[in-house]
Amino acid sequence: MLALVRSQPVPAHVAIIMDGNGRWATRKGLPRVAGHREGVKAARAIVRAADAVGLRYLTLYAFSTENWSRPEDEVTTLMRLLEESIYRELPELMERNVRLRVIGRRHGVPLPVRRGIDHVVHETRANSGLTLLMAFNYGGRDELLDAFRALARRVRAGELAPDDISETDVSGALYTDGVPDPDLLIRTSGEMRVSNFLLWQIAYTELWITPTYWPDFGPVDLYRAVAEFQRRTRRFGGV
Ligand code: IPE
Ligand code: IPE
Ligand code: MG
Repeated sequence: MLALVRSQPVPAHVAIIMDGNGRWATRKGLPRVAGHREGVKAARAIVRAADAVGLRYLTLYAFSTENWSRPEDEVTTLMRLLEESIYRELPELMERNVRLRVIGRRHGVPLPVRRGIDHVVHETRANSGLTLLMAFNYGGRDELLDAFRALARRVRAGELAPDDISETDVSGALYTDGVPDPDLLIRTSGEMRVSNFLLWQIAYTELWITPTYWPDFGPVDLYRAVAEFQRRTRRFGGV
């Protein structure tokens, strides 16, 4: 497997901001939605590659709370694409022993999409291989607000003293409860920003940004990012 360093561990958790579908399509003279369709194919190939590399967790940013501000037809197409692909991917997820988890707010997601998500999450719940976290209707600040509200309720119920709130309590109140923080964050299409993604969890995550648009991002790009991650020295503030 291309250039992976055998003596170094692979990251347990890789998170990806799958960006650049629209520009990929525009560059080819196609409508933006054609880019989203290609983006789904790229995501499928990356799930396979993540499994082959031996990642434990893969988080894919599929739709942000800010993406509702896009033109209505683009939003409708994205919802329809998700609904279609989630059912279509179920057999392969089962075959590969992949467990699906979805992070984000349920409220606001159209009912047919929610039904599809619930079905696939339920069917794959006992799978013990790769955990695929799909960030859908996800916003990092919403996630923190929901966590703060949950913690405030525990304080009001007398279960927790304000001064005892720990990092573990905050992590446990996030949508990613039980999932280790990402070791590596990949962003495609070259933008140098985090766009409201996993704000708490990426405190010490290694960043890898590539100019490649998401539909062109393939397994080899993932291997390259992982191999570069293996060569980095993580200091966590130490020496
Ligand atoms: C990422 O591609 C997919 C989603 C955000 C849903 P974009 O649609 O953001 O593509 P660009 O950034 O406009 O090229
Ligand atoms: C981030 O991409 C969200 C997803 C990939 C789902 P955007 O295209 O929405 O981010 P901005 O607008 O460039 O920050
Ligand atoms: Mg974008």
